[in-house]
Amino acid sequence: MDVLEQVKTQGFVTAEIQKEKSLIKEIERLKKDKNAVILAHYYQQEEIQDIADYIGDSLGLSQEAAATNADVILFAGVHFMGETAKILSPDKKVIIPDLNAGCSLADSAPTDKFEAFLKQYPNHTVVSYINCSAEIKALSDIICTSSNAVKVVNSLPKNEKIIFAPDINLGRYVAKKTDRNLVLWDGACEVHIEISADKLKLLLGKYPNSKLIAHPECQQDVLDEADFIGSTTALLKYVAENDAPEFIVATEVGIIHKMKQAAPNKTIIPAPIHANNTCACSECPYMKLNTLEKIHASLTHLQPEIFVPEETRLKALKSVNRMLELS
Ligand code: 13P
Ligand code: SF4
Repeated sequence: MDVLEQVKTQGFVTAEIQKEKSLIKEIERLKKDKNAVILAHYYQQEEIQDIADYIGDSLGLSQEAAATNADVILFAGVHFMGETAKILSPDKKVIIPDLNAGCSLADSAPTDKFEAFLKQYPNHTVVSYINCSAEIKALSDIICTSSNAVKVVNSLPKNEKIIFAPDINLGRYVAKKTDRNLVLWDGACEVHIEISADKLKLLLGKYPNSKLIAHPECQQDVLDEADFIGSTTALLKYVAENDAPEFIVATEVGIIHKMKQAAPNKTIIPAPIHANNTCACSECPYMKLNTLEKIHASLTHLQPEIFVPEETRLKALKSVNRMLELS
């Protein structure tokens, strides 16, 4: 790069930093004006995590959504997370930056097909992972997250017949941990199932002192290699507290931002995926739809807003509350 190009690039970078700074200032002002709170999942872009009032896993985020005094909840995550906030806080306005931020796992359980599936298994208790739509929550008896799924299933009598939905990988993991036969819905997270056990084994050979930590949405062959399995919050805590110098992280890469902050002297390596794409690590395309610009627009217009029909909400609230009471 010649000197003129260098100066131009530096000028561009400085202008971009200034733009981001003033956007953040505006977001802060709007938050105060509208008495809004920003809740963000760990898979959000770094700059969104940095402006959030609360960052967490699905359990922590639902607890926070239930407890906040704000008039407006801006949920920087995906659609089902906004719905969960609305189920818990019906009197608050819940907005998300982009209505297209869905979830492949939630989409793997359409309501009509799920209803037909339930009919095949009468007298079963339905435990659903929080990554599902409000309608599926309404059809369920109790909700769980990745941090309490084992606890939720263990809270049910040993002889209870149980359907676990929609994540088959989390379901298999929970069945093994609780030593129960669960009827599993065949859904999966398109991001976590892309993590490659074969490539991981090669990487583990390169980093013999590392710990492999994995989210339970990963496939069985990845979980079999893991030193630790847990929710995003549990993975973060493990990195902060464990003495190992290196960690290979089998979940969405967004969590690495907080891991680096919590353990600046440790090496954090994202787990490789099957496909040979440019990124070569696991990014959730839905979570990454959110941007600072969209958050600004969303707070300005208080849109797009999340609505859940009251009948659905009340049924879903029962199953979400049953989980929160256990936690
Ligand atoms: P947790 O943060 O609850 O572990 O969930 C991970 C996830 O996939 C959210 O979409
Ligand atoms: Fe859904 Fe997977 Fe993205 Fe989480 S990471 S929001 S489960 S697609």
